[in-house]
Amino acid sequence: MPIQFHKSSQTFHLYNSQISYIFKVLKNNQLGQLYYGKVIHDRDNFDHLFEAKPRPMAACTFEGDLTFSLEHIKQEYPVYGSGDMRHPAIDILQENGSRILDFKYRDHHIIKGKPKLANLPAAYVENDDEAVTLLITLYDEVIKTELILSYTIYEDLAVICRNSFIRNCSQQKLIINQIMSMSLDLPDQNYEMIELTGAWSRERSVKNRKLEHGIQSIYSLRGCSSNNFNPFIALKRENCNEYDGEVLGFSFVYSGNFLAQVEVDTYNVTRVMMGIHPHCFSWELENNESFQTPEVVMVYSDKGLNAMSQTYHQIYQKRLARGLYRDQVRPILVNNWEGTYFDFDEEKIMKIATTAKKLGIELFVLDDGWFGKRNDDKAGLGDWYPNLEKLPNGISGLGKKITDLKMKFGLWFEPEMVNKDSELYRKHPELTLETPNRNSCHGRNQYVLDFSNPEVVDYVYEMMAKVIEEGKISYIKWDMNRCMSEVYSCVHSPSSQGKVMHEYILGVYRLYEKLISRFPEVLFESCASGGARFDPGMMYYAPQCWTSDDTDAIERLKIQYGTSYVYPISSMGAHVSAIPNHQVFRNAPIETRANVAYFGTFGYELDLNKLSQEEQDKIIEQVKFMKEYREVIQFGTFYRLKSPFEGNETVWMVVSNDLNTAIVGYYRPLQEVNQGFRRIKLLGLDPDKEYHVSINETDHYGDELMNLGLITSDSSCGENREIYNGINGDYLSRLYIIKAK
Ligand code: DGJ
Repeated sequence: MPIQFHKSSQTFHLYNSQISYIFKVLKNNQLGQLYYGKVIHDRDNFDHLFEAKPRPMAACTFEGDLTFSLEHIKQEYPVYGSGDMRHPAIDILQENGSRILDFKYRDHHIIKGKPKLANLPAAYVENDDEAVTLLITLYDEVIKTELILSYTIYEDLAVICRNSFIRNCSQQKLIINQIMSMSLDLPDQNYEMIELTGAWSRERSVKNRKLEHGIQSIYSLRGCSSNNFNPFIALKRENCNEYDGEVLGFSFVYSGNFLAQVEVDTYNVTRVMMGIHPHCFSWELENNESFQTPEVVMVYSDKGLNAMSQTYHQIYQKRLARGLYRDQVRPILVNNWEGTYFDFDEEKIMKIATTAKKLGIELFVLDDGWFGKRNDDKAGLGDWYPNLEKLPNGISGLGKKITDLKMKFGLWFEPEMVNKDSELYRKHPELTLETPNRNSCHGRNQYVLDFSNPEVVDYVYEMMAKVIEEGKISYIKWDMNRCMSEVYSCVHSPSSQGKVMHEYILGVYRLYEKLISRFPEVLFESCASGGARFDPGMMYYAPQCWTSDDTDAIERLKIQYGTSYVYPISSMGAHVSAIPNHQVFRNAPIETRANVAYFGTFGYELDLNKLSQEEQDKIIEQVKFMKEYREVIQFGTFYRLKSPFEGNETVWMVVSNDLNTAIVGYYRPLQEVNQGFRRIKLLGLDPDKEYHVSINETDHYGDELMNLGLITSDSSCGENREIYNGINGDYLSRLYIIKAK
């Protein structure tokens, strides 16, 4: 049983073969944190790990015991105002104006499996032997309120999932101003905090900063998880790199406003907490009402960042993503967005689809512009019926023609938004989120529908369901192209406005759930101006996500590298687009564009008919390649070997689950001359298998490739005179195919 409760010492030990998580009931009946890290032996009593010393000026001591001051005790779910001077995990305004809390241990249950979270995305189990869950009930006598902290430990993964749940059992009204999903006190501050930051078209750059006294945090107040800060942080030891060392990951399974905060006190204790951002959040709880927080997935690794990421990949790919496509290779698609933007009609679309079919492409995706009066981004959002000027046979007519080609047909929607120039807005201007008597900012000429109102969600659902049904749709790209501002819902009372942003996200999840239950065979790809909602919450509904609007191969090296810290290859939408590239005007060769996009859910995003015969022939080869290797790429084990953030070379690789095939992606944006010889140590191979390496055309045992390395020396070593595979000069890339003999 990986969760032990040692009654005599009132200690909980959650452990499996990789990790231990230990905490206890303190003598004041609150919970104290003792250890989180690599597995240690279980024992009846871990009190020797509890640190308390008399502190002369300790602000608040407990019952005259000078050694017991909450300010100096590492806690499990801290409250403010009774001795701990750091930021609390929870803040509740009570009817008498007090915000003092005292949640004391009452009882606990250890259950097999992992309970579902009502209306929220969360990791799951397929059978109850995969995980064990501890539910601890704490109770505040004065406000008669129970707080249930939930911990799930997976049997075979270095993963603990946490969430919290509160129920008001009193007759008074409580206002929850903050309720974090988890809090964790660590005994020292010797960590660097990793975050994935960016902006539109440069999402998820890897940034490290050394922890300092005080608060460091990342957050979103945009109504979506955002491309500015992904809802993930990791704390790594200074010596931790991709291959070795200790790192703790925290990933929030949520798509709205969040806060990930690390506070280091002046005694060097590090407090990590993660949850819904408290700003603009407040939730009234009447008698017997409750609130459930989203989940945080904590991953531990003592084998470096690759191992942390692989654990996230495993759990998110197999126990967060759901549905038919969870275990299936993803169709190779062509999307018309960068090929045509809004300027298309049925004839143009059919020409692209027909060529796509000839090249072996499996899915045609019709992007923005097929509905209402949508000829640019100023009109039409909200009118989810076909624009008959562009598509005289409607979506059903076009769908039939595409499926007659024996291709799948996919469609773009932006369900949460409306243009003022639309039938929907003209009929129902009251359906948007707008603050009375204030200006409403638009974003890309659009306004946000009030998804906190279930009737709006149902209305949009009916419109979408009709099109999906009539158009034989196999794939949906669900876009979301603006941050939320002036948020106010006219269906909520003034005192409930603090609920709106969370209710909005619950509305998004409800629409997803309704659609995937009615159309279980449809593949969903989430999107938000590229990757502004690339988060685990979305992955529960849509197993893949459009990674970034930046389709340039060289830019994508950084974007995909950073994304892989948490998210599996099978979740990253990656397309070959035209040159000069539309975002950075770079002319990367088609080989390099594909060599980067293969490491994702592969596709094309250009007008295939504008390509030369030679380029089309290359695409035929690329599509063949991807069909042969996508199982390995999308479902193998991914390793980062060389970071684009640290130099001119990027190297990554995947290894098949049977260790018989590996593919190494090698990229060098700028050509160099007269360099030293180069090699790169590979990972994850079978040391005892002999492999053949393409390009070099050499044979090696796995141990040689891992300990001595793959030789990548080429024309850049010495005088540069060779052309390799059509590419020499800048934007060089290569794929080494490594096969067991
Ligand atoms: C933003 C998306 O990221 C793009 O791929 C495209 O779908 C446009 N929206 C369409 O408006």
